[in-house]
Amino acid sequence: MFITLEGPEGSGKTTAVNYAVSKLEEMGYQIVRTREPGGTPIAEQIRNVILDKNNTAMDERTEALLYAASRRQHLVEKVWPALKEGKIVICDRYLDSSLAYQGGARGLGVENILNVNNFATEGTFPDLTLLFDIDPQIGLARIAANANREVNRLDLEKLDFHNKVRNTFLELAKRYPERFVIIDASKSREEVADATLKAMLSRICK
Ligand code: TYD
Repeated sequence: MFITLEGPEGSGKTTAVNYAVSKLEEMGYQIVRTREPGGTPIAEQIRNVILDKNNTAMDERTEALLYAASRRQHLVEKVWPALKEGKIVICDRYLDSSLAYQGGARGLGVENILNVNNFATEGTFPDLTLLFDIDPQIGLARIAANANREVNRLDLEKLDFHNKVRNTFLELAKRYPERFVIIDASKSREEVADATLKAMLSRICK
């Protein structure tokens, strides 16, 4: 069982997933929790190149290829072996992040990014993808409240980008209804955590 988590910062997905994982472990399920980009030493090195603020000259297609490279290394070293052992793998961000960020928001095209990723993943799609959906403006306000700071001009400039990311995620959920579950992340922490556990359980027990 391969479960992926998608959605922006400020969507509360970390808290919700921590809760769901602890409940699943109590029930005796073996869970491997991991994240992208990264998750293994080589993949983490690639992550550092991608996220390095000094790499301002990074070309958009280079970025997309690096995410795909990091993804493949992580699959080979961590995800595939764990799935083979019958474990449940829960991964923070996967393929759909590339489709939404690089394909949608950066404008490289979802189909192009899908092609690159088919090569990288050999067609490994998640069994379940939880999309923690929230209006970016609300997510941003939550982050600002947590960090005790005002929303600044740069944050607002990013809004357009994050709206594009969100819309692409919602289109992907329509395209792949068999694996996507949308969690309304504007609800309370308890409700989001509860919906997360329910969605995971109903897929695991299917
Ligand atoms: P990270 O600090 O892990 O963000 P978060 O806590 O929000 O998950 O940084 C990952 C960033 O990389 C995040 O902004 C989303 C972006 N990303 C892509 O653009 N494409 C991808 O394929 C992946 C996996 C992430």
